[in-house]
Amino acid sequence: MPTPDSDPAILAQNLSRIYTMGETRVVGIAGIELEVTAGELVVLKGNSGSGKSTLLSLIAGLDRATAGTLYVAGYDMGSADGAELTRFRREVVGMVFQAFNLLPTLSVEENVCLPALLAGGNGRDIRKRALELLDWLDLEHRRQHVPAQLSGGEMQRTAIARALINDPAVILADEPTGNLDSRNGQIVMELLAELNRRWACTVIIATHSILADPFATRTICLKDGSIKS
Ligand SMILES: Nc1ncnc2c1ncn2[C@@H]1O[C@H](COP(=O)(O)OP(=O)(O)O)[C@@H](O)[C@H]1O
Ligand SMILES: [Mg+2]
Repeated sequence: MPTPDSDPAILAQNLSRIYTMGETRVVGIAGIELEVTAGELVVLKGNSGSGKSTLLSLIAGLDRATAGTLYVAGYDMGSADGAELTRFRREVVGMVFQAFNLLPTLSVEENVCLPALLAGGNGRDIRKRALELLDWLDLEHRRQHVPAQLSGGEMQRTAIARALINDPAVILADEPTGNLDSRNGQIVMELLAELNRRWACTVIIATHSILADPFATRTICLKDGSIKS
């Protein structure tokens, strides 16, 4: 059973995800060996199709490996059942996506509170935490707006607040600056670095951008689904 505070934050051994469609086999990732210590900020690089999103999806519990073992914050991702994975996704990891993935009909504040309400928290405590995060992210004045009324940078900052609402051990960001101009991209990278320092979250950022480089405690490069040495 999980021991959520145990080190390392991420341990992958011979981790593979092969996609099969009929006769066709496509390598997502193959034979990944990776150990990430809690509190690291890892930048994941590699060309399009090299396996970055596949690896993040496995770590996030959105998908399952076809071989190998994966532990995230002490959770054995291979043996977790569907209900455990749902809880894991809600409480242990926070995800930030290129396309923001906010719910269009909910306000900023409602988007941020939703994962905590789904996890069964106390409404008043959740709202207090959401307002703290929105204040930190300079979004206090936007909290009643819906995503369509925000700039890209504001949408991504809302997504960061949503990712943090349940105090996750690990934040996973898949091309978080892909839809942002360079100024907002810089702000988002600085925020990811700051939350890594401030809340000692382990952070993994898959990106083509050089903006993350100064903040990386480690850079890992994928090529054709494997770690390039
Ligand atoms: N759901 C899927 N079905 C089949 N092939 C996939 C799927 N997702 C990713 N792939 C393939 O796996 C490889 C790695 O893709 P991906 O992890 O998305 O790379 P990256 O994020 O680095 O661009 C690519 O060849 C891609 O086409
Ligand atoms: Mg990708």
